[in-house]
Amino acid sequence: MKLYIVNGPNLNMLGIREPDIYGRHTYEDLVNELTAYCAEKGVEPIFVQSNHEGELVTAIQNAYFEEADGIVINPAAYTHTSVALLDALKAIALPAVEVHLSDVSAREDFRQISYVREACIATISGKGFDGYKEAIDLLLQK
Ligand code: DQA
Repeated sequence: MKLYIVNGPNLNMLGIREPDIYGRHTYEDLVNELTAYCAEKGVEPIFVQSNHEGELVTAIQNAYFEEADGIVINPAAYTHTSVALLDALKAIALPAVEVHLSDVSAREDFRQISYVREACIATISGKGFDGYKEAIDLLLQK
């Protein structure tokens, strides 16, 4: 089982950015933790982090061309703005799970909109790094 784990803008700044909201662990910690988790579960993870919307679109398309089985995606701020990411997820039609580290439902009004949600089988929010593990488990069940 091959899963793309896609992270959007500013998630490379984990550990530095707003630690009260996002915690003190880094993006590298996230990758290490999920690599170990995937190894336990027999999953091959492919990690992509980009601050650029078009690169995230390309990563989603690559999941299709490289015959991945699913996508875990935290589109970060592009969650709330990007029709391009929604269209990319719809185009490839692979099972995708939307993840947010913070509980977006308890934050600002502009974070209540998610364009990608429509193309995802589930949304997991507010569980920190564990939310990614839950997403991997959900895709494994699929
Ligand atoms: C986020 C929530 C988004 O609203 C925000 O723009 C992010 C991170 C999260 O993981 O909680 O950059 O996706």
